[in-house]
Amino acid sequence: MPELSVVIIAGDSEQRAVLQVLVDGTSVARTAHAAANYPAAATDPLIPRMHALHADVILVDVPIENPSAALNAIELLRQEVPETAVFAIGSMSQPQSIVSAMRAGAREYIERPSTTTDLLEAFIRLSTNQRKVKRDGPRGKVFTVVNAKGGSGATTIAVNLALALQSAHSNVALVDLAPLGHTVLHLNLKAPFTVADAIRNLHRMDSSLLESFMTRHSGGLQLLAGASNPAGSDAATAEYARLFDLMAGHFRYVVVDASSRLDSATRLVGNLSETVLLVAHADVASLWSASRVVQFLGENSNRERVKLVLNRFRKIPGFHESDAETASGASLLWRIPNQYFAVSAAIDRGVPLMQQNHTEIARAFNGLAAALTQNDDDVKRSAWSLFKTV
Ligand SMILES: Nc1ncnc2c1ncn2[C@@H]1O[C@H](COP(=O)(O)OP(=O)(O)OP(=O)(O)O)[C@@H](O)[C@H]1O
Ligand SMILES: [Mg+2]
Repeated sequence: MPELSVVIIAGDSEQRAVLQVLVDGTSVARTAHAAANYPAAATDPLIPRMHALHADVILVDVPIENPSAALNAIELLRQEVPETAVFAIGSMSQPQSIVSAMRAGAREYIERPSTTTDLLEAFIRLSTNQRKVKRDGPRGKVFTVVNAKGGSGATTIAVNLALALQSAHSNVALVDLAPLGHTVLHLNLKAPFTVADAIRNLHRMDSSLLESFMTRHSGGLQLLAGASNPAGSDAATAEYARLFDLMAGHFRYVVVDASSRLDSATRLVGNLSETVLLVAHADVASLWSASRVVQFLGENSNRERVKLVLNRFRKIPGFHESDAETASGASLLWRIPNQYFAVSAAIDRGVPLMQQNHTEIARAFNGLAAALTQNDDDVKRSAWSLFKTV
């Protein structure tokens, strides 16, 4: 492996020195330059310097307090020095920093304080992972479906929403993050691989490997299946960030069934989602739980993206939608009608509701898919071109 040329950017002088010792200690890389200031514009003298040094990797330290300068620098460096890989170094206790760093274009997010081994592994991943997941076209959007309370219908909604998106747009993935993955049952599929396999192979992931972990449903929907025993997962939050970053580069829409899993992985995936669909029933216990889940998922600015979906909905005299919004603290996005026999027969037979078209409940899922995608560029464009041909 040829020696990698590394540039370190860290505002904190101690951290800068530590990183330099670690990089030089890997013996596969050497520090070409260490900078204290995060570049803020393309005119920053560090940019031409980076070109002159032929840097292979830029390590950007993302401080816990005030990470924005570092995050802006990552985005700038991805634009100005696209041939150089950017690794973010930061805290694992801050899912928002991980998500922001990946969105800004960081290839890896490495925990601080790092060890020589962490860096060495990341450097080896960089030189072995030449083939990239395809990245043409707009980045895909992630929609996460999570329960306010166990058994509220998250899996039913995730499966049918994914099928509705697939038939309207194609190139859709469903990812099963539930503690026990039921999506294979709903879709009547046998899945040779699961999310855990994808996470284990992240270091060598490319388009074809990612596709090989997916199980294909007859209409084209691709499933990344979930756990078949309730052992839990020891994957790090940053590994989920990386997996979903790759998925969003590959698929147009990614629907996540988190069901009743309320842990750091769900919180992180919720943070990187366009919308989190919080599934509740219109009763006191369910809406009380919903308000707790909103608080758990939505730190600071993220609360807005959590929307309420009322499942098994029927009109109750004296119950108003605004009551559900007040009780849960989330605005109402959609209602799915209560149709116990149709829904449980669909699950038992492994023939999803969306395949039994023209029912009221299938219309509800198509409407939900349309509501979630109405502002997307290509959806708007196709509506416009239809209009033009009339
Ligand atoms: N709209 C609906 N109308 C009637 N029954 C429904 C509806 N949606 C779901 N159900 C019923 O609720 C039960 C739970 O559904 P599902 O498995 O989708 O829930 P879940 O929230 O994912 O459960 P878990 O918490 O175990 O992951 C099913 O038996 C199903 O029949
Ligand atoms: Mg479920």
